[in-house]
Amino acid sequence: MSTSQTSASFRLASRLEQVGFSDIVQIRNKVMDLRTQGKQVHQFEGGEPYLATPNHIKDAMSRALRDNKTRYAPSSGILEMRKAIAKKVSERNNIPARMEDVIVVNGGMQGLFGSFQTVLNPGDEVLMFSPYWTPIKDLIAYSQAKPVFVPTAEARANGIKETLAKYSNARTRAIYYNTPQNPNGEVMTRTDAEAVAAFACDRDLIVFADEAYEDLVYDGEHVSIASLPDMFERTLTSFTLSKSYSMTGWRVGYVVAKEPWMTGLRKTTLYSTNGVSTPSQWAALTALETPIEFFAEMRAAYRKRRDLMVNGLNELGLDCAMPAGAFYAFPDVKRIDRDSRRAAEHLLEAAQVATVPGVVFGEHGEGHLRFSFSTSPEVIEAGLDSMRKNL
Ligand SMILES: Cc1ncc(COP(=O)(O)O)c(C=O)c1O
Repeated sequence: MSTSQTSASFRLASRLEQVGFSDIVQIRNKVMDLRTQGKQVHQFEGGEPYLATPNHIKDAMSRALRDNKTRYAPSSGILEMRKAIAKKVSERNNIPARMEDVIVVNGGMQGLFGSFQTVLNPGDEVLMFSPYWTPIKDLIAYSQAKPVFVPTAEARANGIKETLAKYSNARTRAIYYNTPQNPNGEVMTRTDAEAVAAFACDRDLIVFADEAYEDLVYDGEHVSIASLPDMFERTLTSFTLSKSYSMTGWRVGYVVAKEPWMTGLRKTTLYSTNGVSTPSQWAALTALETPIEFFAEMRAAYRKRRDLMVNGLNELGLDCAMPAGAFYAFPDVKRIDRDSRRAAEHLLEAAQVATVPGVVFGEHGEGHLRFSFSTSPEVIEAGLDSMRKNL
């Protein structure tokens, strides 16, 4: 290191000090090491749809490129796409959005980033059910606000409103509300959504809704909290095409919100990416026009994998609730090791089964491992078989 790099000038901006970096990347690296050593790894650590992007969407991308739809687009998204999103959320999510209430962003991550930056001031507190999708804690920290973890299990046992009240104070500004949830596949019911909404209205709080897995609900229904009375104006809802259309690498999503939030979202998007790649938006428009039957078939395929995985884990004595949505099983693995990092390591070394330690999703995830069942039934069978033989 040169002397200049040790000087006070070479200091990361303080707003990034509390922002962490992904643990999951370290797990991925370990898996890659094992594979380069020629070992077969049964991979359940991922967070992506196993399906390829459907051909009609890829064809739309080719068409957009051929037709030179490659220039700057409005930074909030092409008109046709925003119109199609307003129609989709009105019809399918029951959120009465107009085109002005919609912005196209680079996936759910940018939507959430923009939403937190739009609403939060330093020192604000955000209630979030825990375990939670790891980046949320860091996105809130990036806004110099404070995440406050509300154990989902406690809320289920003692009541949602009562539990939210217990973790609130005068600095509480908002609630992050994710359904279906990552990492445990829980789906919030309409009654749950009503309880959160009533609490938000009573306390005058803003809601960040994250509906990344809206199309992957196997039991019950998906309820958008912004569709409940008086909620649209106080909710910023992030959607993504990543999971619904197997488009994780395309980086397309959208946020639906009213003013003043939309002005904030337009600014955070303009000054970060200046919008989403134009040809990707034309392809995404075609994705949104996919007939609804597509999802029934997709859900049936995931359901089959879920049942296989969860039944197999329970047979192994790893207690696992049946997830109602998303594509993750989150069994209790204290039988292997109470420390989920050690449990994950043991599973990887003894059975070549790769998972994510539950503690990565917060202290309330400790004692669990996250298994993604977004893979082929053959991989699920082989992984379970290896656990049966080696645990
Ligand atoms: C709960 C949740 N929200 C949002 C996202 C963001 O997805 P993307 O940025 O790929 O659209 C993910 C991705 O894993 C997720 O699990």
